Amino acid sequence: MADYVLAIDQGTTSTRAIIFNHAGEIVDSGQLEHEQIFPKAGWVEHDPMEIWRNTREVVGLALTRANITSTDLAAVGITNQRETTVVWDKNTGEPVYNAIVWQDTRTQKIADELAGDEGAEKYKAICGLPLATYFSGPKVKWILDNVEGARAKAEAGDLLFGNTDCWLLWNMTGGVEGGVHVTDVTNASRTMLMNLDSLSWNADIAADMGIPLSMLPEIKSSSEVYGDGRPKGMLPGVPIAGILGDQQAATFGQACFEVGMAKNTYGTGNFMLINTGEEIVPSENGLLTTVAYKIGDRKPIYALEGSIAVTGSLIQWLRDNLGLISSAPEVEDLAKTVEDNGGAYFVPAFSGLFAPYWRGDARGVLVGLTRFVNKGHIARAALEATAFQTREVLDAMNADSGVDLTELKVDGGMIANETLMQFQADILGVPVVRPKIAETTALGAAYAAGIAVGFWSGEQDVIDNWAEDKRWEPAMDADERERTYRLWKKAVTKSFDWVD
Ligand code: G3P
Repeated sequence: MADYVLAIDQGTTSTRAIIFNHAGEIVDSGQLEHEQIFPKAGWVEHDPMEIWRNTREVVGLALTRANITSTDLAAVGITNQRETTVVWDKNTGEPVYNAIVWQDTRTQKIADELAGDEGAEKYKAICGLPLATYFSGPKVKWILDNVEGARAKAEAGDLLFGNTDCWLLWNMTGGVEGGVHVTDVTNASRTMLMNLDSLSWNADIAADMGIPLSMLPEIKSSSEVYGDGRPKGMLPGVPIAGILGDQQAATFGQACFEVGMAKNTYGTGNFMLINTGEEIVPSENGLLTTVAYKIGDRKPIYALEGSIAVTGSLIQWLRDNLGLISSAPEVEDLAKTVEDNGGAYFVPAFSGLFAPYWRGDARGVLVGLTRFVNKGHIARAALEATAFQTREVLDAMNADSGVDLTELKVDGGMIANETLMQFQADILGVPVVRPKIAETTALGAAYAAGIAVGFWSGEQDVIDNWAEDKRWEPAMDADERERTYRLWKKAVTKSFDWVD
């Protein structure tokens, strides 16, 4: 009897393999970071081969540490950084270019050209997304336009596209020897190429972007058997049975199954999703409409999403580019050396600004500086930036849904930071709730895979396993909350129109 489910979480900065038991508890895990490649200002790439190597290594590490073998696994689920684009040759298995990461801004010109006179919302009614550098479609176009020989190969049917879920699945199921070229509805919903209602590729948008349909993976649900681990691979014969983009996986792992339930994940960026049920809700306030999940043959469940490009990565930037701290958790100690931000506001528009602004022309600004401001204030302003951006997204969600959220479930690395969590509750004016198992992203993918093979019976098991760990109540005076938030909004306007 297989007692465990394995989740592979292929994230922006690292790849993890986590083994879960039937109670949804972590048994063991392995993790490896991969290189962040910055060839030019605004460009961000990953090496897909390094990601595939790391995946094999972390799966091996997790199995060894848990002292089990692949025969103890009922299923494998994959969750991944979404939008990050890999194009590879199906005959050689070699990527034709590095993966272009979701944060990369090189496709601004392509997005502007596609928008033409109709504007950035040209395809929004079809795919739920504005034309922006964030999404996969324009990144594929960039590769076909700029990599020598790529377009001819694509037109000959030799190239495949996928986000990193699809890249890993293809390799895990056989690669050049018959790998399965499949993605799930949640990843497909981030390409700009999928019809949100029919969950099929939109040939007109693909033609506008010059992307041959033969490159696109088959779209399947988030919970079904896509294929088995190849016989001589790391997980021989184990069914790969769940795929969810990481933010959708966290929504699933947080048991947000009812309309109006929402979660916020604090990772490299922040992503808040609210379940809108079977209804496709267009946003009037700068949110994305996306697929939350689809279990097997059941109807898809949709979500509104507020995507923030830079939150945790701002703390990494303080560490790596400024040397202000030597490890990310130290930011809390540094922030605690001061009472408040000292008047400083940090708008980290490193990839332009995503929700709710979608301003590709924005760049980072640090404003309100005086001789009084020290590194403690800057650390504090950096943390506060995460909370302020989250407030802007929550306001947009309340406006779009017409109902005010009464609490926010949180997960991701930064929720260990108590100073941030308290400030978050203060700025939102609603309680912030942390679950016992904070690894909700990997857990969500494990559940999707486990449900497909009958290891878990369905969503009720997820609800039963979810438990609250801690809750932060708002403690800030309402006038002070609105004063500091008003200054944040003013700071945001200073980041606009900064690209030549
Ligand atoms: O849309 C990008 C998102 O999926 C990346 O998530 O956790 O890798 O920062 P993360």
